Amino acid sequence: MTMPSKVRIYEVGPRDGLQAEKQSVSTEEKIELIERLAEAGIKSVESGAFVSPKWVPQMADSVSVLSKIKRKQGTSYPVLTPNMKGFYGALEVKADEIALFSAASETFSKKNTNCSIKDSLKRAEEVAEAGISHGMRIRGYISCALGCPYEGEVKKDNIVELAKALREMGCYEVSLGDTIGVGTPHKAKEMLSAVASEVPISELALHFHDSYGQALANILACLELGVSTIDTAVSGLGGCPYAPGASGNVATEDVLYMLDGLGIETDINFDEVIKAGQFICEVLGRKTTSKVAQAYVSRTNN
Ligand code: HMG
Ligand code: MG
Repeated sequence: MTMPSKVRIYEVGPRDGLQAEKQSVSTEEKIELIERLAEAGIKSVESGAFVSPKWVPQMADSVSVLSKIKRKQGTSYPVLTPNMKGFYGALEVKADEIALFSAASETFSKKNTNCSIKDSLKRAEEVAEAGISHGMRIRGYISCALGCPYEGEVKKDNIVELAKALREMGCYEVSLGDTIGVGTPHKAKEMLSAVASEVPISELALHFHDSYGQALANILACLELGVSTIDTAVSGLGGCPYAPGASGNVATEDVLYMLDGLGIETDINFDEVIKAGQFICEVLGRKTTSKVAQAYVSRTNN
């Protein structure tokens, strides 16, 4: 397999990024971030989560956010829906795409969604069926694909079985999450290769957090297998409230820069993504964790 000539970026900053931020972000600021990312040419911008506000208060205004964003034609605005209650929220805001989530580790599943892996699949199946009957696109996530914060190593077979199950429910794509960013390139490639032996690689995505600074190296290794969808977060925002030690997702800016250097197209306006990153960092009152954004801004300021 050779590297893809084009990669689709699936932006998770407004959801995965903001769910983990302590600083509160207003509904209007979330909307501005989402609209800026879509204007930059990103065609999938995950924009909220219909989860319990007691569990993740940062996503409590997802109904308002999704109801008020100006939707750009050709762009999708997926939302997380862990159960039917979440699904009804997605239905209320006419979500075009919903994301189901499961995990390759029992302890993480319990901590994140208060149920076993088996029960998370049962819930997911019900939601998938409802989503499909309403014409929504369904995406699946598998957390802890390269390690669990509670159990350590996870079995590759578990990930393969989960990916197959999510695909059978109708997910057009399964995103493989290195939730705590512990993976290294060979392990990432081996895991992807195992899943790709059962699910077409064109239906798989990478969702790598960058806690150990390995995400870009892991993505590069996996690109060699032909994977062509990458989840990223502007400014490297992100984490999971139920994954201690997890830091942000790989930064959109860093991935765009690397892909450009590899001659891989994304059709995304890099400068506009940089500006969106500056905007949200100002709101949060903190520095970007994207090395590329830091270098680019300091070069253009000099
Ligand atoms: P539960 O407490 O077991 O739910 O939570 P329950 O069914 O027993 O209901 C308890 C209460 O929650 C009830 O309210 C329900 O109405 C309410 P009460 O009667 O007590 O007032 N409730 C809800 N409220 C709003 N939206 C809902 C909902 N469901 C029930 N959908 C539940 C189960 C799944 C809801 C909870 O565990 C939860 O919200 N978990 C979400 C955790 C989360 O969002 N984690 C972060 C996202 S996943 C992630 O970041 C990983 C990823 O990025 C990939 C990677 O990096 O690996 C995707
Ligand atoms: Mg994540």
